Amino acid sequence: MACSSSLNWILVWAALLTAFARRTNGIDIFMDWNVSFSNSFSPSSVDQQVIAINGMFPGPLINATTNDVVHVNVFNFLDEPLLFTWNGIQQRLNSWQDGVSGTNCPIKPSTNWTYVFQIKDQIGSFFYFPSINFQKASGGYGPIRVNNRNVIAVPFLKPEAEFDLLIGDWYAGDYKYYRTLLGTEVSAFDVIPDAILINGKGPYADSMSTAHESFTVEKGKTYRFRISNVGSTLSFNFRIQNHAMLLVETEGSYTNQITLNSLDVHVGQSYSVLVTVDQNDADFYMVASSKLLDTSIVGLGVLHYSNSTTPASGPQPAGPDAFDLEFSVNQAKSIRWNLTAGAARPNPQGTFAVTNVTLSQTFILHSARAEINGAPRLVVNNVSYYTPNTPLKLADHLTNGSGVYTLDQFPVQSVNAEAAYGISVVTGNHKGWIELVFKNNLDGIDSWHLDGFSFFVVGFGNGDWTPDSRKTYNVIDPVSRSSTQVYPGGWTAVYAFLDNPGMWNLRSQNLKNWYLGQELYIRVYDPDPNPAKEHPPPENLLLCGIFDPSNAPAPAPGPKTGL
Ligand SMILES: *[C@@H]1O[C@H](CO)[C@@H](O)[C@H](O)[C@H]1NC(C)=O
Ligand SMILES: *[C@@H]1O[C@H](CO)[C@@H](O)[C@H](O)[C@H]1NC(C)=O
Ligand SMILES: *[C@@H]1O[C@H](CO)[C@@H](O)[C@H](O)[C@H]1NC(C)=O
Ligand SMILES: *[C@@H]1O[C@H](CO)[C@@H](O)[C@H](O)[C@H]1NC(C)=O
Ligand SMILES: *[C@@H]1O[C@H](CO)[C@@H](O)[C@H](O)[C@H]1NC(C)=O
Ligand SMILES: *[C@@H]1O[C@H](CO)[C@@H](O)[C@H](O)[C@H]1NC(C)=O
Ligand SMILES: *[C@@H]1O[C@H](CO)[C@@H](O)[C@H](O)[C@H]1NC(C)=O
Ligand SMILES: *[C@@H]1O[C@H](CO)[C@@H](O)[C@H](O)[C@H]1NC(C)=O
Repeated sequence: MACSSSLNWILVWAALLTAFARRTNGIDIFMDWNVSFSNSFSPSSVDQQVIAINGMFPGPLINATTNDVVHVNVFNFLDEPLLFTWNGIQQRLNSWQDGVSGTNCPIKPSTNWTYVFQIKDQIGSFFYFPSINFQKASGGYGPIRVNNRNVIAVPFLKPEAEFDLLIGDWYAGDYKYYRTLLGTEVSAFDVIPDAILINGKGPYADSMSTAHESFTVEKGKTYRFRISNVGSTLSFNFRIQNHAMLLVETEGSYTNQITLNSLDVHVGQSYSVLVTVDQNDADFYMVASSKLLDTSIVGLGVLHYSNSTTPASGPQPAGPDAFDLEFSVNQAKSIRWNLTAGAARPNPQGTFAVTNVTLSQTFILHSARAEINGAPRLVVNNVSYYTPNTPLKLADHLTNGSGVYTLDQFPVQSVNAEAAYGISVVTGNHKGWIELVFKNNLDGIDSWHLDGFSFFVVGFGNGDWTPDSRKTYNVIDPVSRSSTQVYPGGWTAVYAFLDNPGMWNLRSQNLKNWYLGQELYIRVYDPDPNPAKEHPPPENLLLCGIFDPSNAPAPAPGPKTGL
């Protein structure tokens, strides 16, 4: 087969990998991760398994600085395949390390595989999570910090300390149970989570029956909290009793510093806030309540002043009305990029301005629920993503994609008349500006994420998007980030500069939506074979699907099974 000569070719490129410099400076960070089920945590006070890393839930912090090279050797002690993705880490020229089903063969149980990637041109707050098999619903997530290099000033005084605050909804049942249910029962889609966890811990309760999250702080000092929504479904509003928050960063953009009493965080998003602890010695509530849902579940932690002997008391701070989307939209529009703050830039290097951008492509992506052959699915433009068991990137590399997917079958500006499965891979013009318009025809708040890039969030609107809607865009100082919310019945528009060749996942961060087919891949192709451009596959490249030497022919299309 042509396959074996291609494999030789891989080895040649793999050898070249060591020949070109991977870093300008920065250090190597080595981590070994044992990923296993653990019964040592009972986050919702029922006995259940969580996915732990080295016995920790959430998993360990990746504390990197721009240009560092991260090596994570993942040992899979689960009973099924596993992949991690690095939410918001751009993997420049290196989609081989992105860790989604379209880029990597899964790490089989009882085996290990090492991710190696350099964090380039980025700073900020991010997190990682298991990307396949609905596993994220049972944990496996953890924080990523990318610190400024010493030579790059941070636009605020160094805080006394930093805390990671991973907040997300949680189901008391096993993820395998829910994913089976989701594939068959329409009603499973609307199952409400059982809890909101803060750093894997259930809510503070007077009875102290469950462990809760508590941060010890010293009166008079200022702390940085890096808040991420690591949940499956719910957007939340976060606030701290009697304390204001100064918003400073979102997924790598230093924002105009604005003082907030509460902050909406949508699934997959990250923010940094500074909190000055300026009250009398006491403990104070930290609250995360769900948006658009009539429920009493709430994440509840404690800000503990080091000299406090008083437990948190009084009413929990009230946030905005959970159904007031106006509040949420206005807050989103008020979050702007600080154009004068120095930082590693998203691309193009050093460019902030999207004022005079010439668009090369526009995709208009309608998300909706649909039924295909009796199965409940999520569709984008009436196409539900079908996960082939051969990664697209691997197919691309070995056979130019043929046999696994057909490029550009997905309708980027229209909605198909019939809902159907598709392996959606579309061309993104290399070094072109793309405009993505996300239209949400679902009941809940959706959240879209693009791997490989950060995008400029230029507009939010109600109802239908038309070219005229561009007049309402903020093209002066939009924030650059990688996950954006899309309000029900409305649209969100983003711009991205596609200078990062690779196979890039564009997905709903809402785990149910994603699992049921709300995703596609953007293939950014650079014909220049210069190895200083897109990285060749790593030496430890895994083969699977049609390239698995021990494997049968290509699968027939159908609902997701293996991956
Ligand atoms: C991972 O598991 C192996 C085998 O059980 C053990 O030897 C090793 O110490 C563990 N590593 C970590 C970081 O927990
Ligand atoms: C993270 O790295 C930075 C920069 O090297 C260092 O100053 C900081 O102490 C580290 N934080 C943790 C929690 O390891
Ligand atoms: C598996 O772990 C071993 C021991 O740490 C390491 O030498 C090897 O490179 C790892 N394998 C892969 C494919 O990363
Ligand atoms: C923006 O960043 C600059 C430079 O660090 C800082 O001096 C300024 O206060 C920031 N502006 C706002 C509105 O946050
Ligand atoms: C805590 O109380 C001790 C004793 O009164 C005092 O010396 C110390 O400054 C206090 N610490 C803070 C952070 O307020
Ligand atoms: C955009 O283009 C206009 C007209 O050419 C020019 O006047 C303006 O300065 C440009 N703005 C930016 C931010 O480059
Ligand atoms: C591979 O695909 C690209 C993009 O569709 C195309 O330009 C190129 O000609 C193809 N190469 C081969 C060898 O088929
Ligand atoms: C999507 O497909 C379904 C049938 O599967 C059809 O009823 C519906 O009208 C289509 N949506 C649009 C917007 O055309």
